[in-house]
Amino acid sequence: MVDVPSLAANGLNMPALGLGTWELGGAQLDEVIPEALDIGYRHIDTAQIYKNEADVGRNLARSDLPRNELFITTKVWVDRYTPDDLLASVKESLDRLQTDYVDLLLLHWPLFEGQGMNPTLEGLMRARADGLTRHIGISNFNIDQTEQAMAFCGPGALVTNQVEYHVYLGQERLRRVLARHNLVLTAYMPLAKAGVVNDTVLWEIGAQYDKTAAQVALRWLIEQDRVAAIPATSNIHHARANFEIFDFALSLDDHQRIAELDKDRRLCAPASLSPEWDD
Ligand SMILES: NC(=O)c1ccc[n+]([C@@H]2O[C@H](COP(=O)([O-])OP(=O)(O)OC[C@H]3O[C@@H](n4cnc5c(N)ncnc54)[C@H](OP(=O)(O)O)[C@@H]3O)[C@@H](O)[C@H]2O)c1
Repeated sequence: MVDVPSLAANGLNMPALGLGTWELGGAQLDEVIPEALDIGYRHIDTAQIYKNEADVGRNLARSDLPRNELFITTKVWVDRYTPDDLLASVKESLDRLQTDYVDLLLLHWPLFEGQGMNPTLEGLMRARADGLTRHIGISNFNIDQTEQAMAFCGPGALVTNQVEYHVYLGQERLRRVLARHNLVLTAYMPLAKAGVVNDTVLWEIGAQYDKTAAQVALRWLIEQDRVAAIPATSNIHHARANFEIFDFALSLDDHQRIAELDKDRRLCAPASLSPEWDD
């Protein structure tokens, strides 16, 4: 079985490739998760709002892998952001996930009422202090908010900002800020929601290595310093293909060609949740 590289940041040890689960549930996850574990996936990304934590939990509980070999991320939804409610919501998540702790707990979007982000960050830190999660992080925070959160939580407290990142969206400034503070950028929508699968440039690059455009897109992400990717799939063949990215390397010329693709295609920007993007 392939050993997935692990990303180390502020005490974190997170497999660089994980399985996304947004929009999946029930029978799909009953099929994909056991297969993914068999293939070698150990990192699973879910969220309270995905309404599939129980499906994830059921399938992880059925596997005979020791808990400490799994890396489970969940995210607190924005309607549970007061500190007490945040802790209550995480305990509900843990019940659904059938585990005593998650490996990574994120704030899903930076949408804070009245008092701003600090009380919610305090709740997040309490969740970690209480042992409900091993690590904490943020998601969809812009650069300014990321810097505020890092300043409030203190050095080494946060391990990642999970944001949209793929070959069609540049995140250079944000990535530099995160790297400077030793945080991982976890790339969601790493396949640009399947937008990469017919890309001619990516196919041309992949042809040199007998790889698909999707594999090239994922490889491009995980070759970068402190970048993880969490592609989602309901298809066990895609799950396997997405994992077969550790036996080739992109050349400088390949990187140059990918750098030349348009980098302004943000796909996930719900008006009711999005901050002002400052990257
Ligand atoms: N923090 C956040 O706010 C946030 C936002 C969005 C997503 N996320 C996380 O990131 C994960 C990934 O993002 P995403 O699911 O939106 O998009 P994505 O992973 O970029 O794309 C998923 C799509 O790609 C297809 N696909 C996967 N592998 C493929 C392959 N090898 N060949 C062809 N098509 C393939 C899937 O279809 P098939 O099912 O047919 O394979 C699905 O339609 C989510 O599941 C979620 O866990 C987080």
